[in-house]
Amino acid sequence: MQPKRYLITSALPYANGLKHIGHLAGAYIPADIYVRYLRSQQRDVVFVCGSDEHGTAIPIQAMKEGTTAKEIIDKYHQAMKEDFAHLHISFDIYHRTSEQLHHETAQEFFTYLNDRNELETKETEQFFDEASNTFLADRFIKGTCPKCKSDRAFGDQCETCGSTLSPDELINPISTISGNTPIKKKTTHWYLPLAKHEQFLREWILEQHKDDWRASVVGQCKSWIDGGLQSRAVTRDLDWGIKVPVKDAEGKVLYVWFDAPIGYISATKQWAIENKKDWKPYWYDADTQLVHFIGKDNIVFHCIIFPVMLKLHGNILPTNVPANEFLNLEGDKMSTSRNWKLEMRDFINDFVMKENGGDQCVDMLRYYLTQIAPESKDSEFTWKGFQDAVNSELVAIFGNFVNRTFVLMHKLCGGKVPAYHEAKEDAIDAQLRRDIMDAKQKVEASLENYKFREALFEVIDLARKGNKYMQEKEPWIKAKSIQENPDNQLLIDNCLNNCLQLTANLSILISPFLPSTALKMCKMMKVVDKMLEWSNAGSLKLLSVGYTLREPQLLFRKIEDEEVNTQINKLKSSLMQTPEIAAEESSSYLPLKPEISIDDFAKIDLRTGIILSAQKVPKADKLLQLEIDLGFEKRTILSGIAMHFTPEEVVGKHVTVVANLAPRKMRGIDSNGMILMAEDLNGKLYFASAGDLSKGGWKVS
Ligand code: MF3
Ligand code: ZN
Repeated sequence: MQPKRYLITSALPYANGLKHIGHLAGAYIPADIYVRYLRSQQRDVVFVCGSDEHGTAIPIQAMKEGTTAKEIIDKYHQAMKEDFAHLHISFDIYHRTSEQLHHETAQEFFTYLNDRNELETKETEQFFDEASNTFLADRFIKGTCPKCKSDRAFGDQCETCGSTLSPDELINPISTISGNTPIKKKTTHWYLPLAKHEQFLREWILEQHKDDWRASVVGQCKSWIDGGLQSRAVTRDLDWGIKVPVKDAEGKVLYVWFDAPIGYISATKQWAIENKKDWKPYWYDADTQLVHFIGKDNIVFHCIIFPVMLKLHGNILPTNVPANEFLNLEGDKMSTSRNWKLEMRDFINDFVMKENGGDQCVDMLRYYLTQIAPESKDSEFTWKGFQDAVNSELVAIFGNFVNRTFVLMHKLCGGKVPAYHEAKEDAIDAQLRRDIMDAKQKVEASLENYKFREALFEVIDLARKGNKYMQEKEPWIKAKSIQENPDNQLLIDNCLNNCLQLTANLSILISPFLPSTALKMCKMMKVVDKMLEWSNAGSLKLLSVGYTLREPQLLFRKIEDEEVNTQINKLKSSLMQTPEIAAEESSSYLPLKPEISIDDFAKIDLRTGIILSAQKVPKADKLLQLEIDLGFEKRTILSGIAMHFTPEEVVGKHVTVVANLAPRKMRGIDSNGMILMAEDLNGKLYFASAGDLSKGGWKVS
């Protein structure tokens, strides 16, 4: 049964800095597409978001910028709100957790749970900085990582090897506030005993939702549950946050991950106030569909902790939590500290605000980020990929089809929608008309399942079919012999009627993804936006016969090589601009993997070899196909080094080969082994060989 109303949320971004396109692709664009799709069906939907303004991230940023926490949140709240608006993320409300309404809502929530004994209190010893007279949040303690021995480890995580840590594990802990060694001091906190809810979580996630939630989400939940659910502290000793609403809880605030998701509720309340609506059904009625759009680092909070809180508080539970994986940038993880990132604001300044930019550039970014959305695995943004997506899909397929249709309609049909002569319909026409009718179902099915990449592909595929149809029909050729074959005009009419109906359908189907493009198309077709209602899709009578249409407008411009190069250079040089990090990077080495036994090593048969020949693998940028002489035999090995070496360069090289690795098929070619390479800190590769004197086949040990 169709839900009666929808509440859609996007993760509340921390107000501690500008957000990058990884955030945008993970939690905002997919949510916006989904919401626009629901709205185009007149469903009752509220889309909420806002700034997450608590937690230690805020005072830490204030320390870095030499200002107050309040100034930080005001600045970044405003900036993030603007950026989202520029990129046409259509929140119904963008709230903030520093609002009084939110403080009250979060406190009420805490009190409700506490009064019903759903929380426990526990006394523990925690690090305390005597100089500043404060308990130290995990992030405020620095030390040496017990795992990789790097000194860039914090009380919650090691920046070098990424291990999750607790402050007690740090070697030589130091307070980042005073630089002193902290002492241990007793403190009392409130905990949410998750173990009590294990049965509920197992049934709800691992049984009820095992098929309709993304496998990666269910998988992460399963490993959390199987790993044993610990009680989670929901309060902190900190002076920035929402006061714990209990007597004698001086200096204690709600843990940011307790209050932030409640921000979805306070945002809904604020929306209801502003729109004279009732917020309660959205959080209490079982016929509401609640969907959280987030990045994968937020899964445990949205699938385990917050649902337990909601259940205890008598609210509804999320129907789905379509979490995305991460988006890498030009071959590397996006990172704020290393400045390897593309902020939304940068794109807005460099493209949207430029003379030839505007809304079309917003849609280009929305297009590319949806096309590469990391829905089932990490994916990568590259400027070249952006250029390709725009130039060879948006411009060459979608834009081209619409433009050709309009130009030909003006030239061959007097600028009016031509009639459709049923009697003249052939198999090709009939197929196209079926394709138009089917497209709606396909896009819909994908969207309903949160498969946005697939849905977008279906829309472009329909445009592709339009181009093919036009190519097969060649109305411009038929126009040349109208004198001899007066029937040709009827065939031309049919072709352009179909192409125009297809164009109208495209505008509807593309509208959740590229809203400005859809509106621009409406203008060209001289129809009101109401035509974009989803229920109109699939119709072959959207534009009435005889209706006069406007001149075509180009929907998208091309992205030039120069723009791509400028962006790549900008990215690379900004990485250089942070000298401390450059210095740290050049003095740090990748951490070692866990220890292995001699028996583990003995399983690997390493042999020397010589590269006899090399060639590029078609359609695989990174792969070289190598013929290797191992002395006792010759082998084909595929190696991912094509970005680093030309085939000519590597012929004759001496290499070390993992000779007993199971064969693996890539691009239809069997690769029998692997060659060893060494990588320096700049990512340059070297052959790890036993020296140029070695013959093929020697055992390396
Ligand atoms: N601020 C968090 C982050 O950026 C997300 C908070 S989502 C919410 O990772 F549920 F807490 F709101
Ligand atoms: Zn480490």
